[in-house]
Amino acid sequence: MDFSCVYFTISAIFPSMFFLSSLPLRFHAFFRSRLLTPAPFGNTLIVSFTCPSEGERKKRGLFDMKKRVGILTSGGDCPGLNATIRGVAKALYARFGENVEIVGILNGYHGLITGEYKEMCEDDFRGILTLGGTILGTKRTPFKLMRVVEEDKIDKVAAMKKTYKDAKLDCLLCLGGNGTHKTANLLSQEGLNIIGLPKTIDNDIYGTDVTFGFHTAVDIATEVIDRIHTTAGSHSRVMCIEIMGNKAGWLTLYSGIAGGADIILLPEQPYDIDRVCDAVERRARKGSNFSIIAVAEGAINTEEAKMKRKEWMAKRAEAGYGVTATNRIAAAVQKKTGMETRVCIPGHMQRGGSPSAYDRVLATEFGSYAAKLVEVERYGVTVAMVNNRVVANRLEDIAGKARNIPEGCELLTVARRMGVSLG
Ligand code: F6P
Repeated sequence: MDFSCVYFTISAIFPSMFFLSSLPLRFHAFFRSRLLTPAPFGNTLIVSFTCPSEGERKKRGLFDMKKRVGILTSGGDCPGLNATIRGVAKALYARFGENVEIVGILNGYHGLITGEYKEMCEDDFRGILTLGGTILGTKRTPFKLMRVVEEDKIDKVAAMKKTYKDAKLDCLLCLGGNGTHKTANLLSQEGLNIIGLPKTIDNDIYGTDVTFGFHTAVDIATEVIDRIHTTAGSHSRVMCIEIMGNKAGWLTLYSGIAGGADIILLPEQPYDIDRVCDAVERRARKGSNFSIIAVAEGAINTEEAKMKRKEWMAKRAEAGYGVTATNRIAAAVQKKTGMETRVCIPGHMQRGGSPSAYDRVLATEFGSYAAKLVEVERYGVTVAMVNNRVVANRLEDIAGKARNIPEGCELLTVARRMGVSLG
């Protein structure tokens, strides 16, 4: 049952009296714990319908309560992390003024484990909207090792809970991708007040249509493809451009289409090297002296698709073409078509630098929404965009899942319609 609907209906019928403090607190808390809970995603209520009006909140002294909010960035960085941190901070200061204290946890969960954090002040969040990377630092701390006690003998989960307690946090905001969200869910289940925020250039977080960082990376990868076009044409070459994205091909699909790639190879669509070569030769027959192949970092061929990941990784290592398929594809195309082939790997450039205007807006929407969640004490959730509306998804509903390109994806159809080969 979607309790938030009941809540909304009752509050619509008795708008002013519903939030009056004369109602038993426990009753209020019961419903508040269900606020912003989608069923299953996106079917959610706008916060302003479901929480007391600003005046009522002021009257009840909600802004006078001190709040200590922890914030961390975990996993691979991306443009828009600082813009999101700023969005959270500015909205919190605007709401709570001196009654909010923000604690920056350094280097992601690693800092939460080792107890490295610092008190932040309003000045720390100035001038960072356009800044790439993360002012808090980040690290990859694999989820699968969170419950494993390693050589250092540290119980990571206990250590994280201790830091949360020592820092006297009321809640912790975790900005990150899929791995970050798995740990965020674990901490939430351990009783901490957690709010997630979806970042990644891969755009593969379940339950949100978009993550911040993705569109900036699309812009960067598209520019790479644009620039490669001119040199490919000048030299009559086949250019293989490796785009980031190990398990999800969104970045390759978007930038491939935006950059007019002739062949797009995705992890979700195993390729056949003969079909790739056919596509290059078809273009040559029609008078195009060059071809652009956008290869996702995680692209695999039809043979590899039948094997376990470990198996094909071992085979690749043995063959000596490197971890990704790009060099192998380039070599095979050159051999089969006789056309000169080159590889371009923009790599981490796709994650660096200033966020695009789109990502600045998205980061600000997400950050300010997270501040609102802090205000209404809605925890165990992560911020998401569903059908152009910012909503909160339960961490337990999205953790451990990923959002890959589904077969029926509209953009795949567009690519095929345009004569783009998907291998
Ligand atoms: O998750 C973002 C991402 O850039 C992926 O696209 C890529 O596979 C991976 O991170 C690279 O990770 P690292 O920066 O640790 O090499």
